[in-house]
Amino acid sequence: MPDAQRHPFLQGLSKHRGAPPTVVVIFGASGDLTARKLIPAVFNLGYDNLLPADFFLVGFGRKPIPDEEFRKIATGAIKEFSRRELNADVWDRIAANTSYVAGGYDERAAFDRLAKHIAALETRIGREVQTLFYISTPPSVFAPILLNLGASGLAARYLGRRHHSKVIIEKPFGRDLISARALNTTIRSVFEEHQVYRIDHYLGKETVQDLLVQRFANAIFEPLWNRNFIDSVQITVAEEVGVGTRGGYYEQSGALRDMIQNHTMQLVALTAMEPPVSLDAEAVRDEKVKVLKSIQPLKIGAGGDVTRAQYAAGMMGGKMVKGYLEEEGIAAQSATETYAAMRLSINNWRWQGVPFYIRSGKRMARRVSEIAIQFKRPPGTLFAESDRFNLAANTLAFQIQPDEGLSLVLNGKVPGLETRMQPVKMNFRYSTTFGSNTPEAYERLVLDAMIGDGTLFIRGDEAETSWALYTPVLEAWATAGREGMGSYAAGSWGPAEAEALLATGKHAWRQP
Ligand SMILES: NC(=O)c1ccc[n+]([C@@H]2O[C@H](COP(=O)([O-])OP(=O)(O)OC[C@H]3O[C@@H](n4cnc5c(N)ncnc54)[C@H](OP(=O)(O)O)[C@@H]3O)[C@@H](O)[C@H]2O)c1
Repeated sequence: MPDAQRHPFLQGLSKHRGAPPTVVVIFGASGDLTARKLIPAVFNLGYDNLLPADFFLVGFGRKPIPDEEFRKIATGAIKEFSRRELNADVWDRIAANTSYVAGGYDERAAFDRLAKHIAALETRIGREVQTLFYISTPPSVFAPILLNLGASGLAARYLGRRHHSKVIIEKPFGRDLISARALNTTIRSVFEEHQVYRIDHYLGKETVQDLLVQRFANAIFEPLWNRNFIDSVQITVAEEVGVGTRGGYYEQSGALRDMIQNHTMQLVALTAMEPPVSLDAEAVRDEKVKVLKSIQPLKIGAGGDVTRAQYAAGMMGGKMVKGYLEEEGIAAQSATETYAAMRLSINNWRWQGVPFYIRSGKRMARRVSEIAIQFKRPPGTLFAESDRFNLAANTLAFQIQPDEGLSLVLNGKVPGLETRMQPVKMNFRYSTTFGSNTPEAYERLVLDAMIGDGTLFIRGDEAETSWALYTPVLEAWATAGREGMGSYAAGSWGPAEAEALLATGKHAWRQP
């Protein structure tokens, strides 16, 4: 198998040998994501010697920025946001090959200038380079950028050869099924699917990748990973922050679009999918799509599978914080949910009858993302629940952020002459086992795209399958307006309606 197609799990740090000479072009290079994540990711890849020897970084945006100024901005971004301190030896080498092209995203001539700029870089080193386009702009300009990459010939550079052009597309990937399909149609009019890397940065997180390793590299889990042994699964993506100054953006989004449809569904897919035939990108993504397609349509309305709410004022960290409707830029009668919870039923041989409960919200008690696998209780013949026997269901929890790791709750004997029992927790923390300086998600993802490994990216049909599940919910909510909107105090674990959603199945939300 060629290096470029092998999965990182198989080849470890040797992957840098696979990246051909590359120019990364960032559209929206003056933006927040570029400064906070992309530039630091490039720097840290350089630090780890994972960039190809011939590497170029080109920023693109509407405002003219001289090369020197862009390099200064990038240096500042590394100082402020990188997980490692700026290292002059590493950064100077990258900065020497960093430049900026100004132009409109819908301006065809600007893309011709960009093409010339890239050709000049190739002439300078006397080698062909692949181009990796990173579209890091608001979604309103995704289509013009894509179409201009097509019209200028940049998308088709070296097509059919290993160093063909590639494109990374940021989220949000559409806002419902129709818009996601339209975006896919635009993409496919310009790029072939294998050139496209739809990003969900959750997939770049260590623990998310570790989920596959835990499932398929340990003999003890897979035999239990089904409806015979698992009672239910809970996936939580909770934020402490409110909408802050981004109210205008959030009003157009909400918890379902912002978190559930993308990040949370990626976690569902990786938890529930069948073992792929290999770790090849298509094999993994085929299994993810299959399991997403097995999810039953969601019942909406009273007694249904979905619930939504907005945060009200509440105490957080000893301070009173505002409710959603009082935040800046939020309509007085806003019907945008800041919390959503769902009960998913996966109708296949492995999972029938095992509810997958998922929830995501802002202004919740704690910032945490986790997947908790709750096993069935042991039969109570020997140790029936009592004061002495505080029996817990075994729970395997993958903590994705913060403090990445894995814990397993077992029942253990309390030391002493009397037989007493209580749940005990076995913990594995990345920071204690491997040190705290683990790579950021964007480092892994930019490197994988450079190499041509799409395993940790979303395929077009995967995005559409997820939207197909949630679009009816969004439409029903849009019709209902504020009717049925729950409320929860900021700093709590969510609304009463979400508790009721689980209570019908005799379950309760964990407090991770
Ligand atoms: N920021 C994050 O933490 C984050 C996290 C996950 C995903 N994302 C996604 O990443 C993408 C970029 O995010 P960002 O926070 O960097 O966005 P941003 O700062 O709002 O915009 C990035 C750049 O795009 C250009 N731009 C902004 N508004 C535009 C408009 N209306 N029309 C045309 N160009 C416009 C601007 O560059 P010029 O004026 O120089 O052209 C701007 O600097 C978005 O799709 C976002 O959803 C961001």
